[in-house]
Amino acid sequence: MTIDIASVPGNLEVLPWPAITGLAFGGDYNPEQWDESVWAQDVQLMQAAGVNLVSVGIFAWARLELEPGVFDFGWLDRILDLLHAGGIAVDLGTPTAAPPAWFYRAQPESWVVDADGRRLGPGSRGICCPSSPAYASAAARITTALADRYGDHPAVLMWHVHNEYGAPVSECHCDQSQIAFRAWLLDSYGTLDEINIAWGTSFWGQTYYHIDEIRTPAAAASVVNPAQQLDYRRFCDQQLRACYLRERDILRAHTPDKPVTTNFMATSCPTTDLWKWAPEVDVVANDHYLTAERGDRHVLLAMDADLTRSLAGGRPWMLMEHSTSAVNWQPRNVAKQPGEMTRNTLTHIARGADAGLFFQWRASRSGAEKFHSAMLPHAGTDSPQWHELVRLGASMRTLADVRGSTVKADVALLWDWESFWAQDLEWRPSVDLDHRERTTAFYTRLWQDHHTVDFAHPTADLSSYKLVIVPQMYLLDRAAAANLTTYVTGGGQLLVSYFSGVVNANDAVHPEGLSGPLGELLGISVQEFAPLAEHQQVMLNLLGHNVVGGAWTDRLLPTDPTTEIHGTFTDGPAAGSPALTRRPLGRGAAWYLATRLDIETLQHVTNPIYAAAGVPKNQIAAGLETVTRRTENGAFHFLINHNDHPVEAAVSGTDLLTGVDYPQSATVPAGQVMVMRQDF
Ligand code: GAL
Repeated sequence: MTIDIASVPGNLEVLPWPAITGLAFGGDYNPEQWDESVWAQDVQLMQAAGVNLVSVGIFAWARLELEPGVFDFGWLDRILDLLHAGGIAVDLGTPTAAPPAWFYRAQPESWVVDADGRRLGPGSRGICCPSSPAYASAAARITTALADRYGDHPAVLMWHVHNEYGAPVSECHCDQSQIAFRAWLLDSYGTLDEINIAWGTSFWGQTYYHIDEIRTPAAAASVVNPAQQLDYRRFCDQQLRACYLRERDILRAHTPDKPVTTNFMATSCPTTDLWKWAPEVDVVANDHYLTAERGDRHVLLAMDADLTRSLAGGRPWMLMEHSTSAVNWQPRNVAKQPGEMTRNTLTHIARGADAGLFFQWRASRSGAEKFHSAMLPHAGTDSPQWHELVRLGASMRTLADVRGSTVKADVALLWDWESFWAQDLEWRPSVDLDHRERTTAFYTRLWQDHHTVDFAHPTADLSSYKLVIVPQMYLLDRAAAANLTTYVTGGGQLLVSYFSGVVNANDAVHPEGLSGPLGELLGISVQEFAPLAEHQQVMLNLLGHNVVGGAWTDRLLPTDPTTEIHGTFTDGPAAGSPALTRRPLGRGAAWYLATRLDIETLQHVTNPIYAAAGVPKNQIAAGLETVTRRTENGAFHFLINHNDHPVEAAVSGTDLLTGVDYPQSATVPAGQVMVMRQDF
C-alpha cells in the first residue's frame, strides 16, 4: 500500500477540554440509579479503565427538582466532588429529555399528540411538546439552576444539552403546535396568499381562506398536501432547535468559556437537519449504534463517522455514545465479536473523533435498558468484555498525540435532509426509490476502493474535491444546480444518479421538466420516468460491459451537442435510451447514471471517473480499512483489519499501539488495528 501524504497542513483545532490532554474516553454515567455506596468503586474502576470523561445527569430531572422550583442538589454535589477527586472530568447534562411526573401531571396540555391524535404521557422518556410554553419555562428553570450551581465546579468541563433531539419524538399535533405552526408559516411566507401559492393548493381544492384553517398534517382521508408536509418537517426541526438554543444560551450566559453540545445521531435521526444544527454547538458530538445483523455494519459505521466529521466542518468531534457490545432495542441484539468494540472505537477516532465514549458506564439492573451492554457489564470485571475495555482505555491513552489532527478527503457525497424529507413522502414513482440505499451503495463502493469520503450539502463549497457524487437528490434548487455547475466548470468530476433535481423547495416539479435545473449541466432531458416492476431487471451496455440494472430507468434524450453516451439500455421500458452520459464542461465533466447498479457493477462507472478525477483506486488489501489523520508535521495512518486473516500493508512507521517499528511494510493481524505514526 502506498499512502499519499499531502504536504498541506491539516486544519488544526484542538477541542476545548483543557483538563484532558489526549483523547477523551468514558461514557454516560447515571449514578442516580445506584446506591451511593457503589460510587467510590465506580470511580476506582473508571481510573482502572482509563476513563477521563463521563456524562452525568442526562435523565436526572426527577432526582434534581422534586417539585417545581424545589431542588435537591446534594447527591450531585457529592458525585461531582468524588469524580473530580478521582481526576475524572464531567460533561454535565441538562435533564430536559425526561420531564418529571409532577410536570406531566400539572401540564397535560404539554403532552405530545401524535399524528393519529394519541396523547403520549409519562412513564417513559422523551420531550414534551416542543412548542409548549410550560415545557419551555420548566426546562429553562432547571437549566438555570444547574448553571448557577455547577458553572464553576472544577469537575464540569462542558455541557451536554438534552439528549438526542428528534428521538423518540420529533413532532406534535396538539393545539399549541397548531398555533406555533401557523405563526411559523406566516413568518416564513408573509401572507396566506403566498402559502397557497407555495403549496399549490389549487390542486384538490385545498385553498385556504383564513390562516386558522391550516392544521398540522395529521391523519387525513388520503395523502396530505406534500408541500405542507415538507414545511411541517422544517417547522418541527426548527421547534426542536429552539428548545436546544434556549438551554444553550442560558448556559453560555453563565459560563461563556465552557463548551456546549448536544448529541446528534448523524445517519440515524431522519428528522433533524443537522447542517442547521452543527453551527450551533461548540463541538459536534454524535451517537452511533451498529445495525448489528448487517454484515457491512462497519462500513455503515465509517459512513456515520464521515458524515459527523463533515458536520463538524472537518474539525475533530466527539463520539458521545456507542456500545461496548449488544444494544437492547434491535429485533435481535447481536453481541460484538471479541475485538469488534476496539475496531469500532478506533474507526471513529481514525475518522476524526477526539473522544470515544459509550452508553453507559455501569449496566443498569432495572428499567428498559437492563439488557444493553455497558463498560462495566453485568458480568463484572472478571470478564473478557471488561478486559477488552481496559486494553482499549490504554490504547486511547497511547494515542494521545492523535488529538487535534484532521482527515482530508478528495471525494464528496451530497447529503441533504430536506431532500430526504421530500422524497420520503407518499406517492413517489416507485417504492424502490431509496436515497439511503443509493447513498450507502455509492459510499460502500468508495469504501471498498479505499477512498476517504466527506459529505456535503448541495450548496457547500465543493472546490476542494476531485470527485463529487450525487446519489439521489430529489429536491435540488436552482442555487444548488448553479453550485454544481461552478464545481464542474472549475475542473470537478460530477456523477449524478437518477431521480435527482426533480423538484424545488416546495416539492413542485421544476419548469424545465423532470431533469430540472440539472438538465442543462448534464446535457440531457429526462422525457419520462420508466421505473421497473418488482424484481424486474434490465440489460445495459456500459462502456463495453454488458451488465444488469434494477429498480429504475429513465427515457432520456441528450440535449447538448457535446453530450457523450457511454451506456445504453438494451431492453426494458427504456430500451435504446442512454443509461450513462457524460458532458464535458469547462475543465471538468458531468456524468449521469439512469439506473440502479449493484455495488460490484458500479465499478464500471466509478473506475473511469476515478481516473478522470485523478483519484486512482488504491491497491490495498480488501477488508483493510485505511484512514490518515494529519498534523502540521506528521501523520497517523490507521490500519483496521476487518478480515479473519492477517494482511500486508505497504506502510512504514512506528505502530503506536505496540511500539514496534516497521521501516518498510507491516502485517496487520486478523481483526486488529495498527496506528502508524509518521513524522515529516
Ligand atoms: C441512545 C440514547 C441513550 C441510550 C442508548 C441505548 O440513543 O441516547 O440514552 O438509550 O441509545 O442504545
